[in-house]
Amino acid sequence: MSRLAGRRAWRGIIEEYRPYLPVTDETPVVTLLEGATPLLPAPRLSARVGAEVFLKLEGLNPTGSFKDRGMTLAISRAAEAGAEAVVCASTGNTSASAAAYGARAGMVCAVLIPEGHIALGKLAQALVHGARVVQVRGNFDVALEIVRELPARAPVVVVNSINPDRIAGQMTGAFEIVDVLGDAPDVHCIPVGNAGNITAYWRGYLEYRKAGRSSVLPRMLGFQAAGAAPIVNGAAVENPETIATAIRIGNPASWYGATAAASESGGGIHAVTDDEILQAYRFLAEEESVFCEAASAASVAGLVKVGVPEGSRVVCVLTGHGLKDPDLAISQLTVPTAVDADMDSVLAAIGL
Ligand code: F0G
Repeated sequence: MSRLAGRRAWRGIIEEYRPYLPVTDETPVVTLLEGATPLLPAPRLSARVGAEVFLKLEGLNPTGSFKDRGMTLAISRAAEAGAEAVVCASTGNTSASAAAYGARAGMVCAVLIPEGHIALGKLAQALVHGARVVQVRGNFDVALEIVRELPARAPVVVVNSINPDRIAGQMTGAFEIVDVLGDAPDVHCIPVGNAGNITAYWRGYLEYRKAGRSSVLPRMLGFQAAGAAPIVNGAAVENPETIATAIRIGNPASWYGATAAASESGGGIHAVTDDEILQAYRFLAEEESVFCEAASAASVAGLVKVGVPEGSRVVCVLTGHGLKDPDLAISQLTVPTAVDADMDSVLAAIGL
């Protein structure tokens, strides 16, 4: 008999959270069974910051990032509306997710990516799922401006987070956290790029409290990379630069959503440097055995930097999987040279 006998299988975020989402019985559900990602206790990080810290491992979604939560809904609703083509601008993860869910729905998927600034794994995903990949000479912000205008010129649905279905689907991350912890955490730490996800989590926490599923609301702490920190600076950044290419964004579409989340929750939006991001990236891998993207590590870099009251319950969202960007990992480390294939050489190389 199966070890899972008697346990109900996870059905993906639309079926699991249907009453909270804009779907009807007529909506064709396009799912890869996203969601139900682990909320991993982080003992060493907890000791370091004097709090009880959990890591929400969004890299374990079907395409390796949190984007799948919003994409299942955006593609399902596009299918319901009869769309045959979808389009997005992306720093990589949205394009990977749109490509996968678009293929599942039998739709044409076009993705605009900034030339030379997306991680190799994400480019591979968009290509392998059959998307029409357009490399644009310009950054994400420029690509998104073109995408915004596309529906006026061609029959396509935009699946960036300017599409409200994306935000609605991403609320489910907050639902899962509350379902596991029994209530909302005291503090929620999250990287901020185009600012859709912080907007979605805050809305998710509000929705769940309204529904009586939680009794408190977290302080929302959002973190931008210092070289791409328009919200922190209070002005758009024309040429954003950061090692964390996923959040290399100078003019976030959900700017207002992010500032509202921060101010309404008593939180804030702060900047972390590339050095701080890389230190958190290494710490997570070495001390907590979690390999995440550099952009994801911004949430932990920020937690370490700004601190929280002693004993707080904290959730850091790790938005994407480290395997998306092996080039970055390797560039931070020394790859050993080969040794002769004999016992003495191997023992010497191991150093034991
Ligand atoms: N972390 C990762 C790994 C991301 O890919 C993104 C955004 C963010 C954080 C920031 O989330 O934009 O909702 O504030 N990636 C988008 C993309 C922009 O195109 O894949 P946000």
